[in-house]
Amino acid sequence: MIEWTPALSTGVPLLDEQHKAIFQWLAELESAAVDERTLFGVYALTRLKHYMREHFAAEEALMKAAEYPGLGAHMAEHAKFRAKLGELQIKSIGEDISADTVEFLVDWLTNHIAKTDMAYVPYLSS
Ligand SMILES: [Fe+2]
Ligand SMILES: [Fe+2]
Repeated sequence: MIEWTPALSTGVPLLDEQHKAIFQWLAELESAAVDERTLFGVYALTRLKHYMREHFAAEEALMKAAEYPGLGAHMAEHAKFRAKLGELQIKSIGEDISADTVEFLVDWLTNHIAKTDMAYVPYLSS
């Protein structure tokens, strides 16, 4: 089951809420993949992409305000992922979302929150 777990909590309520919502869109995407619903897959991926853009912008604004030294590298990871989502969105129009794609997105997000996002936590709370 795809869902946010407390182990991924940053302690910043806004960002945790956004991370939870992202996992919800990933769960929707998984159900589109399992049921082979192409149009719903396009929709869920499009929603996810928009939501990621909002989330990344919110996170980057907070890091900037905190003068977080890892901002540049963090933004580069976000940009790379957004480019990947753009590719997947185009692909989703022609074919069903695959289980591999869902797995890739869940793994990326989980790793990114656990490592890259967690690194800013001490800077945001101080
Ligand atoms: Fe994040
Ligand atoms: Fe991030």
